[in-house]
Amino acid sequence: MNRIAPPRSASATRPITRLIPGARLRPALAAIAALLALGTALPAAAEPDATARAAIETSTRERVAPLPKKLLDLLQTTIAEHGAAEAVSACSEKAPAAARKASEDTGWQIRRVSQRNRNPGGVPDAWEAKALADFDTAVAAGADPATLERSEFVTEGGRTVFRYAKALATQPMCVTCHGAPDGIPSDVRARIASVYPDDRATGFAPGQIRGALVVKRVVE
Ligand code: HEC
Repeated sequence: MNRIAPPRSASATRPITRLIPGARLRPALAAIAALLALGTALPAAAEPDATARAAIETSTRERVAPLPKKLLDLLQTTIAEHGAAEAVSACSEKAPAAARKASEDTGWQIRRVSQRNRNPGGVPDAWEAKALADFDTAVAAGADPATLERSEFVTEGGRTVFRYAKALATQPMCVTCHGAPDGIPSDVRARIASVYPDDRATGFAPGQIRGALVVKRVVE
């Protein structure tokens, strides 16, 4: 897998708060302080080690890898049977529903994002925006978009969170709904405009990064 940057391990060492110097305490207080110190130390002991991190990375990748293909099959079937305009409606319901279902099944946050999003919920956060920008840079430098992904363990709100992004490349069939506006069939354009008045997801050419499939997975 062509990684555009190795996963940086977040320095997630937790400060073990020393409440009060134990020597000056009466025994009962010292016992409480010791318990408190133990309490704060426990999560640090649960930090995933390198083996656990590798397993988290692999299981995340394996779980989400089939999703883009499933969506592509759904799009192709719907377009073949009902035409691209109908597929806009199918996509607007089924794609987010598939991500919701995968999120419910796993307990992770799974969604699709883009720097030029169609779905109003598809705005990337800072980590995702950086990954997308780096994917664009890598593609401009000649990388195959199908191989691009990024993963990183970060600390958010005191918790270790695994972040993952897999690039979604624009394929020739995608431009029916995401290509230059002039090239989008007028019934498809009308359908998109009625469902997504603030659409920003046109003007893409095959080979460009259309967006990313992203996962946020709280590790502990
Ligand atoms: C039939 C029209 C249609 C086709 C073809 C299509 N899309 Fe979309 N796409 C949509 C619609 C509608 C949405 C908004 C609903 C949603 O979130 O899925 C969308 C949203 C997305 C998003 C989520 C981010 C955003 O912009 O909101 C990504 C990523 C995406 N499409 C990628 C692709 C890729 C890659 C292909 C080709 C493999 C493709 N699409 C083909 C209609 C289409």
